[in-house]
Amino acid sequence: MTGGTRLVGEVAVPGAKNSVLKLMAASLLAPGRTTLDAVPDILDVSVMADVLRGLGAGAERDRAGGRIVIDIPEVVDATADAELVRRIRASVAILGPLVARRGEARVALPGGDAIGSRALDIHMNGLTKLGAVVDVEAGVLVARCSGRLQGASIWLDFPSVGATENLLMAGALAKGTTVIDNAAQEPEIADLCALLTAMGARIDGAGTSTLVIEGVEGLRPVLHRTVPDRIVAGTWAIGALMTGGDVTIRHGRAEHLGIVLEKLVGAGAVVELVEDGFRVSADGRPRSIDVVTLPYPGFPTDLLPQVIALEAVSEGISLITENVFDSRFVFCRELHALGADLRTDGHHVVVRPTPRLTGASVLASDVRAGAALVLAGLMAEGTTVVRDVHHIDRGYAHFVENLTALGAEIRREPSSVAAA
Ligand code: EPU
Repeated sequence: MTGGTRLVGEVAVPGAKNSVLKLMAASLLAPGRTTLDAVPDILDVSVMADVLRGLGAGAERDRAGGRIVIDIPEVVDATADAELVRRIRASVAILGPLVARRGEARVALPGGDAIGSRALDIHMNGLTKLGAVVDVEAGVLVARCSGRLQGASIWLDFPSVGATENLLMAGALAKGTTVIDNAAQEPEIADLCALLTAMGARIDGAGTSTLVIEGVEGLRPVLHRTVPDRIVAGTWAIGALMTGGDVTIRHGRAEHLGIVLEKLVGAGAVVELVEDGFRVSADGRPRSIDVVTLPYPGFPTDLLPQVIALEAVSEGISLITENVFDSRFVFCRELHALGADLRTDGHHVVVRPTPRLTGASVLASDVRAGAALVLAGLMAEGTTVVRDVHHIDRGYAHFVENLTALGAEIRREPSSVAAA
């Protein structure tokens, strides 16, 4: 791509990656056809569909229409394909539903982005409290229980998104009441609660840090629309501010980006609510801001690389602190190659202003780092090449096409087209 253009125009945000993958896993709880709408056209959805097919489910996808119909048989297989599971972290979300329905689940330790150690102890301890016996056997997580899971009170050590989701889905079919305290409060979890409730689950406290679930004996399949992707919306908002552009983000939910938009306004953005979305415009060089990531409603870790890229082109010094993952700063090396002045120390990074970024060849190491490097490339003098862009395909549908429509000078080399 060649740097120097402002992003101007309109972009539509699809359903959230980090919701739809869990909604797909939740379909395992109800025999029959679950239909999900606003499904993003991203690689991870294809992989998750294959995971479900491997368990005996049907999965028919209308990619252009953003719909997937998942057909769950009366008896699902309890063993997930290890190679597929290792490709996406979200595949661990089948653990709770499988053990709840089958009394057994065998799921290889999942993969995903190289952003930290990403333990599963909170998932395992929670399922144990619900009466399952959970072990790791030769790299495979095995959970078993004889009869139904039993409701229990569970206090999470950390409001883990994935653990909250697994325990919510397991608790939905457990006998009696499950209480999850210190639960994650991300909008994607409220979306999962909405799906489960429509399926017949009894859940109190959706969107809060205490979830109370009265287990039921069975759930039914439904039609559900995925919540819009707040991280994709936030990425466009940061891109608009960085390039001094003007972007209307349709389906963007400003209420899911409270602290993010407040920070961007502090950096000089003008944010205006419009019908079914919001608009972000800016003029001139952004002012620097300090950012601390935290579980929702704190500043999302999934916008950390994008905000570091923003700081690299801002005036003033900025201090960014990452509190969720332990290796999210590996991408700073690539940003440095574009001329950014960064210094990392533990879970902090100090970003100092530079007169300009300059084009270089850089490597996307995960989905958000990839998006951030593309945004930085839009601001770099000369040509920037971002390699390994299959990472971006994991979370951003039609990223290059959207950027082109917003006026960016960017093209995708045929060799980098990922097979989705
Ligand atoms: N953790 C543990 N033990 C556990 C679970 C988590 O120590 O049993 C730690 C992790 O190592 C990590 C922290 O807790 O340091 C947060 O992990 P969490 O479980 O909340 O995250 P996740 O479920 O693995 C999801 C998203 C991530 C997003 C985080 C935080 C999906 C598929 N992934 O991961 O999304 O960053 O929540 O919001 O939903 C992305 O989309 O780029 C992405 C990485």
